[in-house]
Amino acid sequence: MARENMTSRRKFDHIILTLTENVEKSDMTTGLEDIEFVHNALPEVDFEETDVSIRFFGKRLSAPIVIASMTGGHPEAARINALLARVAEELNIAMGVGSQRAALEDPSLVYTYRVARDNAPNAFLIANIGAAEIIERPVEVAERVVEMIEADALAIHLNPLQEALQYEGKARFRGVLRAITRICENLDVPVIAKEVGFGIAREQAKLLKDAGVKGIDVGGAGGTNWARLETIRVRLLGDLERANIGKVFWKWGIPTAISTIEVAMEASDLTIIATGGVRTGLDAAKLLSLGADAVGIAYPLLKHAYEGNHDEVVRYLRRIMTEIRIVMFVTGSKKIEDLRRKNLIITGKTAEWLRLRGYDPGIFARRES
Ligand SMILES: Cc1cc2nc3c(=O)[nH]c(=O)nc-3n(C[C@H](O)[C@H](O)[C@H](O)COP(=O)(O)O)c2cc1C
Repeated sequence: MARENMTSRRKFDHIILTLTENVEKSDMTTGLEDIEFVHNALPEVDFEETDVSIRFFGKRLSAPIVIASMTGGHPEAARINALLARVAEELNIAMGVGSQRAALEDPSLVYTYRVARDNAPNAFLIANIGAAEIIERPVEVAERVVEMIEADALAIHLNPLQEALQYEGKARFRGVLRAITRICENLDVPVIAKEVGFGIAREQAKLLKDAGVKGIDVGGAGGTNWARLETIRVRLLGDLERANIGKVFWKWGIPTAISTIEVAMEASDLTIIATGGVRTGLDAAKLLSLGADAVGIAYPLLKHAYEGNHDEVVRYLRRIMTEIRIVMFVTGSKKIEDLRRKNLIITGKTAEWLRLRGYDPGIFARRES
């Protein structure tokens, strides 16, 4: 099969496999199960006063939610991107498109991404390209994908494990940091470094910050599991040896809660997006309290979008917003940034991880005292 067709085919496989296989079965958890707010029985706030709007790279969003990068490069993907973009426009939230590699290889697929801007003339849109694609001609590639959808920001996804396990993966990362630096120096829009489900540690967050990125999407473990998804795909493609190798990595990665804390501790001046296993407004509120500026959600939106069910996507996102507002109410937080000053109890594996990495999980429990 020609490479052009292979990229497009892979995009379609990813959608179908995500929807038909249990790609987030509990191999890993987000760490959010170890984190609790301390209930406030006297919040001195009215529910109606709670305000979930935020500033995101200088633009006001009505909620701290990003429809996470998912798709493009296939006619089915165009339909999904158009629907998600209409929702982003309607709710005034941000949205990322999936990797634009397919359109760089085959310009007839540009429209599968461009539909996002056509359906969301005012929404904050994030272009997307993989680290392996920017090593040669970094600035040119970055400018092309941004221009393709008139993006407000560019996400560069860092997915070394996914590339290593993928049937036709490009496990080449030498020179990626230098390429990111060149892009940050030359691009007119902010650059976000993003993992796809294995998290970003503080050491890499520091390097990325020095390289000039303005945002980090932690893309932590505990949600859609790409080790599982690529394993299933290589098995279906008949490579059983590679499938057995893939299985070894189903529990790999930095859980979303931990990655958010590590990145927030080391790079608090960057815009931090917490993606990976966010399923409720309570999950979102915990991550916002840990230091995220916004959360990203992918998988739960895909099924409804694939079925063309616009109203269900809107209903799901509105429910998340209501749940965030309830947490704000019962912790006495009028604004999203107030959540960062609320006490959190961190126990279990997450607390242990933090201690071993030199952080005192107790500081989160004493923020209001
Ligand atoms: C079908 C599908 C395709 C995806 N494609 C991309 C991609 O092209 N680029 C990217 O940065 N992330 C991609 N992701 C990862 C998501 O942006 C997100 O980081 C990850 O799925 C974790 O979020 P979730 O647990 O809410 O699904 C994809 C996710 C899904 C489900």
